[in-house]
Amino acid sequence: MKITFGKIILTDFHIFALRFEFEQEALEKMTFEKNILCIGAGYVGGPTLAMIAYKCPRYKVTVVDINPTRIAQWNSNELPIYEPGLEEIVKTRRGKNLFFSTEIEKGIKEADIIFVSVNTPTKTFGAGAGMAADLQYWEKTARQIRENSESDKIIVEKSTLPVKTALAMKRILTSTDDDIHYHVLSNPEFLAEGTAVRDLENPDRVLIGSSETPGGLKARDELVEIYANWVPEEKIITSNIWSSELSKLVSNAFLAQRISSINAISALCEKTDADIVEVARAVGMDSRLGNKFLNASVGFGGSCFKKDILNLVYLCRYYGLEDVAEYWKGVVNINEYQKERFVLNMLGAMFNTLAGKKICLFGFAFKADTGDTRESPAIFISKRLMEERAELVISDPKALNNAMMDLEGLEGKVSYVEDPYKAAVDCDAIAVMTEWDLYTGLDYEKIYRSMAKPCFVFDGRNVLDHERLFEIGFNVFPIGKPARTHFN
Ligand code: UDX
Ligand code: ADP
Repeated sequence: MKITFGKIILTDFHIFALRFEFEQEALEKMTFEKNILCIGAGYVGGPTLAMIAYKCPRYKVTVVDINPTRIAQWNSNELPIYEPGLEEIVKTRRGKNLFFSTEIEKGIKEADIIFVSVNTPTKTFGAGAGMAADLQYWEKTARQIRENSESDKIIVEKSTLPVKTALAMKRILTSTDDDIHYHVLSNPEFLAEGTAVRDLENPDRVLIGSSETPGGLKARDELVEIYANWVPEEKIITSNIWSSELSKLVSNAFLAQRISSINAISALCEKTDADIVEVARAVGMDSRLGNKFLNASVGFGGSCFKKDILNLVYLCRYYGLEDVAEYWKGVVNINEYQKERFVLNMLGAMFNTLAGKKICLFGFAFKADTGDTRESPAIFISKRLMEERAELVISDPKALNNAMMDLEGLEGKVSYVEDPYKAAVDCDAIAVMTEWDLYTGLDYEKIYRSMAKPCFVFDGRNVLDHERLFEIGFNVFPIGKPARTHFN
């Protein structure tokens, strides 16, 4: 085709070139609601951002990488990674609101939100070689963001990073005096290779960690809003930034631990007439192996766990499976460690001496709703506290008779008082040993008034309202959470 304007003749080629330019211009001018950038076009960055582009056509999503070959592949018919369903998603959105480019600096300048998804392999040199993460690519990215930013940015950690790297990122970003504000969020990736698209489209949960400042919370809400385009709200969970970073490592450790556990048992099956598939089926049908049995505590007790594990250890040793025996013995060891740690925390918190101090145990049973005290952590803890020459007052709605038998003949002062209000009078500290409902509903102001000062609560079951207790005046020591104390 030829079009003639006076002396100007436009050929097919000219028309094509003009159309291309118009379209590019229209695209540039098209106003997207947000500009999202991802640095690192790998296994995590590529699929994650492709899914965001697919689910949110209103956002412009750009994925950049230092590796031009990789970017060329993302822009071709042969994507650099294979994931079922990924090609369809990329092809649907590429050139519309999904772009792959090597223009990292331009990308940073334009972005409102930057996902950092560069590789963090295991270090192969120097301190921590073979174990620690190699953060050189990640740190380079932080500096690049700082050098090229001209407006405020939300930075989203997407790589697998060890705890506290968000803090390092924040420090690098704010180490110059420009007026740009950065909010660093942690949004760990839980997708598995091979099911990445399915995991991204229908995740078990999306975790977003932020600082608790107004700016941090606002940034967090912006990221929540992006995921809320397709993920049900109840599956988007938020936490502080360190919990979020740590959850990623712990999730993988738990999953890997299950495999190591079943693999360890497979060795025993080979020595006996058991069949690992049958054992795994029976074990896996216990619904508690999901989100249950994850309440950190002062330690497990009861007539079964320790006895059964030690039995398993014995059986493994009998069959010459020393490594497997040690592995399971480790489970018991950690339980002993947890109980001892609880006592040492009490000692440390109470100025390194418990001699002559009066300590009230709330609960003695190995768990709530039973009077059974066999292997209860309260037995070990009572003995250790008495070794430290503390005076004990033991309170429990159902287990006092058993407690008396358990502690019979021990040297030291111990009394048994069922009423928790009376038990706490004149005590220096309360230590919660059992998660009885009763203990959550008590009038702690009244209890506080009756106790010696300063007052301590060691919540070995994390069942009390720690903030409230702190406000009343207690120094509060939960399990696995920062202590709340009135000391400087
Ligand atoms: C256990 C097994 O659960 C049961 O299937 C088996 O047949 C017998 O042994 P039990 O000893 O009654 O049952 O107690 P369980 O409810 O399993 O609790 C064991 C210990 O783990 C308790 O001390 C409990 O307080 C502690 N625990 C449990 C935690 O510390 N955190 C948790 O999240 C759950
Ligand atoms: P992951 O599995 O974590 O996604 P990959 O190795 O698949 O890891 O992808 C990480 C990508 O990050 C690689 O393509 C790498 O080229 C890219 N990358 C590393 N450092 C930078 C950087 N400073 N800027 C941009 N991209 C980077």
